[in-house]
Amino acid sequence: MNFLSLIESKREGKTLAPNQIENFVREFTAGKIPDYQMAAMLMAIYFRGLTTAEITALTLAMRDSGDVLKFPRDKRPLVDKHSTGGIGDKVSLPLAPLLACLGFRVPMISGRGLGITGGTLDKLDSIPGFKTLLPAGKIVEQVQKIGCVICGQTDRMVPADKKIYALRDVSGTVPSIPLITTSILSKKLAENLDALVLDVKFGAAAFMQTKTDARKLAKAMVALGNECGVNTRAILTNMDTPLGRAAGNWLEVKESVACLDPSVLPASRWQIKSSQFCRQDASSTFADLRSLVLDCAAHLLVQTRKAKSLVAARKRAEDCLNSGAPRKKWDEMLIAQGADLGAFNKKLALDHTAPVVVELKAEKPGFVSRCDARLIGEVIRDLGGGRLTKESAINYDVGIDRLAKPGEAVQKNSVLARIHAAGQSQAESARARLRAAFEISAKPPLVTRLVAEIITSLR
Ligand code: URA
Repeated sequence: MNFLSLIESKREGKTLAPNQIENFVREFTAGKIPDYQMAAMLMAIYFRGLTTAEITALTLAMRDSGDVLKFPRDKRPLVDKHSTGGIGDKVSLPLAPLLACLGFRVPMISGRGLGITGGTLDKLDSIPGFKTLLPAGKIVEQVQKIGCVICGQTDRMVPADKKIYALRDVSGTVPSIPLITTSILSKKLAENLDALVLDVKFGAAAFMQTKTDARKLAKAMVALGNECGVNTRAILTNMDTPLGRAAGNWLEVKESVACLDPSVLPASRWQIKSSQFCRQDASSTFADLRSLVLDCAAHLLVQTRKAKSLVAARKRAEDCLNSGAPRKKWDEMLIAQGADLGAFNKKLALDHTAPVVVELKAEKPGFVSRCDARLIGEVIRDLGGGRLTKESAINYDVGIDRLAKPGEAVQKNSVLARIHAAGQSQAESARARLRAAFEISAKPPLVTRLVAEIITSLR
């Protein structure tokens, strides 16, 4: 194969044939195409784009570059959810056990965070003993047995994406809709799903900052997923504000468990003097998180024809969540993946695990009109909760909780956020920076809806 002529064709905006794409993905995965040539191809794609047929060929070639999970026949549909990433986005954690309790099989292959957006695997690494690196056989066995798994990609799954993604990261070619689409979908297709719901974020802390770009990405992924035989839909959700009230790896695990079982955070635990939490019960403290978890479950029930309407589906998901079964399923999943449940529950009972906790307080009364997810993400990353490079070590205990959210009334000295830090100086510097993340206005602001749109087809 003359790869140079393919790069030149793409540079000139020509369309590549499916077999040309299959060949270069195979050769690149086998180490027969140098990184510098592949980087040039990625840049050509970045500027010239790919046709629908090219996107399909590239995605399938990437999927087939490694193992595809094979499940025995079963009446329980295989489903998953993928989010394009944000701050405090912990939906996968409560969602997987909820879906298992709703009669699905959930082979949730997740990723790590990079930069300010958190990664599901990093959150799970904060659970004592929990293993996220599982061989394909164990993934299938656990899904068959308990209904869900949340783990990382094995070395043998979609190796082409691993190599291409690493090159994109250092060649300025990450923000390309065709490349993001093929990267995400190749991994999801390797799970052999019946249905997939995509949570495409837009806003200050999202990959796609505008709703228009998020819609373009969502439409490309929905079209491709459906074309490849997976019933796919997308919801566009706002990421100007963090999801829930906690961000940071362990703090998010804790909030996820509270979403499954609000008694984990009894109302009294939230009743800090002169704080906005005084007037809320534990479940309403993370209403947006709970709502998004239920929405994702409801869509999958409808997509797999297990429910006739979204309203009926949501009620079913809510009843299931309220039954307490998903909390028990969560414990089952933890045990199956090697967690020390005793140590986990002890950790859960602690108010904080970071050495220093300080509060950021409102300087005046009013209404929270901004709680900036991007700045909050940057502060958490710099506290040690995220990575600046792929090699950075993570501090799982740091982060922010008890966030005040837009629309909420605050008094002077109400808590706007608690900062969990490794030391006093880090805590003080985070507090100083975080002040700019909040705006307090005299009048209640217009609060943006979390779910802006649902994309089910190419219309
Ligand atoms: N997540 C992925 O897996 N790939 C991308 O390209 C972007 C986000």
